[in-house]
Amino acid sequence: MSNSVSVANEGGVAIVTIDNPPVNALSFHVREPLMQALVALRDDASVAAIVIACAGRTFVAGADITEFGKPVQQPDLRAIVATLEAIAKPTVAAIHGTALGGGLELALGCHFRVADQGAKLGLPEVKLGLLPGGGGTVRLPRLVGALKAMRMIVSGTPIGAQEAHGTGLVDAVFEGDLTTHAVNFAREIARKGGPFTPVRERDESLGETDLAAFDAEAADLARKARGLEAPVACAQAVRNAVTLPFDEALAVERALFVKLVASDQSRAQRHLFFAEREAAKLPGKDVVKRRISRVGVIGAGTMGGGIAMAFANGGHPVTLLETSQEALQRGLATIEKNYAVSVTRGSLSEDARQQRLGQFKGSIDHADLGDCDLIIEAAFEDMAVKKEIFGKLDAVAKPGAILATNTSYLDIDEIAASISRPQDVLGLHFFSPANVMKLLEIVRAEKTAPDALATVVDLARRIGKVAVVVGVCHGFVGNRMLAARGSESEALLLEGATPSQIDKAFTDFGWPMGPFQMGDLAGLDIGWRNRKARGLTAVIADTLCEQGRFGQKTGRGFYLYENGSRTPIPDPEVEALIRDKAAEKGIAPRTIAADEIIERTLYPLINEGAKILEEGIAARASDIDVVWVNGYGFPIGKGGPMFWAGLVGAGKIIERLEYWLELTGKDVFKPASLLKRMAESGSWEAGSTA
Ligand code: 3HC
Repeated sequence: MSNSVSVANEGGVAIVTIDNPPVNALSFHVREPLMQALVALRDDASVAAIVIACAGRTFVAGADITEFGKPVQQPDLRAIVATLEAIAKPTVAAIHGTALGGGLELALGCHFRVADQGAKLGLPEVKLGLLPGGGGTVRLPRLVGALKAMRMIVSGTPIGAQEAHGTGLVDAVFEGDLTTHAVNFAREIARKGGPFTPVRERDESLGETDLAAFDAEAADLARKARGLEAPVACAQAVRNAVTLPFDEALAVERALFVKLVASDQSRAQRHLFFAEREAAKLPGKDVVKRRISRVGVIGAGTMGGGIAMAFANGGHPVTLLETSQEALQRGLATIEKNYAVSVTRGSLSEDARQQRLGQFKGSIDHADLGDCDLIIEAAFEDMAVKKEIFGKLDAVAKPGAILATNTSYLDIDEIAASISRPQDVLGLHFFSPANVMKLLEIVRAEKTAPDALATVVDLARRIGKVAVVVGVCHGFVGNRMLAARGSESEALLLEGATPSQIDKAFTDFGWPMGPFQMGDLAGLDIGWRNRKARGLTAVIADTLCEQGRFGQKTGRGFYLYENGSRTPIPDPEVEALIRDKAAEKGIAPRTIAADEIIERTLYPLINEGAKILEEGIAARASDIDVVWVNGYGFPIGKGGPMFWAGLVGAGKIIERLEYWLELTGKDVFKPASLLKRMAESGSWEAGSTA
């Protein structure tokens, strides 16, 4: 037929095989022959039943995302599903790997679905700022019930084959050769005879919907969506499946899809989907990677412990090193406690807990790191301390072991130059808590060997991290841009804003929390210590720390926290302190609008991003977006700072930066030359070294 779709007839059962690597997306070159095949098989008297299967590693993983935003070429997915659903002979989807989005919608067009025991099924469109647009919102509830369908569609999280079987989404689960099982299943069904009811007519479970409970949960989900349109549209579309006739609900789903696909939010989320995958790509694909089994972690504090857990969770044996038995036991006890909490919460099985704990080996002797393939130090943030550790590693690490520092700021070239094997040194900048946060900044030092870099990029992905390769500079990509934002947050306080007013401007923008809530959560003493080490000051934050107000952990920071609660309460004492400090500096308070807060904090951050690109510290603008979305909570619906800059317009950003530069004389407002080029060309390309 075509390279992408082939048909075989096995004793009266037709097997339609889709073959469109890597993930069998429903591109136009698949849809066209698929439609032709279905029409031909519908009318072919020698065919008693039809199985739709896929070649390669997965069933159809969705529509082809690269086609979104372009004119639709017919037949579209809806036309294919309608044709499939109207076929009178039994149709069976044989699902292995992942049936996602349009893939699951295609399967919902079949009378039956059978799955390999390892298969996963879901409608993850919400993660692309969309809702299922091929009938998923109206068909899925007819099989699994409206509430379950809403949860699946609003979260976008796939379910396993066994659960899908339990909910009625899948009719049988098999082990072994799935296509053979599917053909036998189809043959047996055909032998028993019809009629075969299409999913659109199976509305028994819809009648049982408790709409009040549905609406309560939908309202809760809408609140949590923090301004994202897609989750709200998803819930609305599933509700329509209950309250409207099938075709009407389908038409509304279509209208919502068309609106969302053209929205900035969906463009932003699609940008992030490709940006994350792009970030993991390095030039020189053919580099032979080093073998990494045992990982050594130096330092069993919050950071070291989290890093150790991240590797143990990824299946690596870990040697955890501390300077004393007490510190080691404390660190191991915290790790044990963290796993126990996960078991209590139900996110980890008892078996998995034991298996992970079994990966740890504690030590207070550097010589025990001799069998490690990768060693990461997470010790105190001080150049002399780091150099001492690397000196010891130079002596004990086996040849070819990768030696990494988790420094957030320090010059890794200087660390590398202090030992005899600089080619094995690089930075692995984890974000706290390291076992939870997805982002990993991988810092390529001047002499880092290409194979060492390729090895950790690959390893990062295998332990579930989103990796971005960055160059050496103070604070790398994330913290360097954060510093540009931080100094202006403090300045805004002195000029008349309150912490809660600034934080609200941030949450209204879509951040999960504002900078002061974030500081209180992370601990204000961390920044304080860093500033002191570098001879810097932040008058308000420093004074709070001098008063022992370190944030949530002391019950007081920029806000008050009562009885261990995490809810910030504005504190009149802090507001008085801010006014006093402003008066000391002769600053008269004025009213500050939300727009000013956003401009003065985010525009300098973007400006710093442009400098980072210009210097080649980041290879692509989209890498910076990946850092900010995954490490700092930049709203996904805005696509990251550099994507958002494109939406706002670099010209407008420059104009406002120049305005604030004239008013304040501050360096952070001096527009970078790349920002100016972006204003002219509309693209960050000029700075890309990718
Ligand atoms: N369209 C186009 N390209 C896709 C794609 C899709 N739906 N899904 C994956 N790809 C591409 C990736 O960009 C990547 O390309 P690259 O190698 O050039 O970087 C390649 O396929 C492999 O993808 P991954 O690196 O992500 O491979 P994994 O094995 O790690 O993961 C996966 C496989 C779980 C299928 C993952 O790719 C995924 O989640 N894909 C997206 C699934 C999805 O969102 N489907 C819904 C699409 S929207 C839709 O269907 C609308 C409909 O309702 C009308």
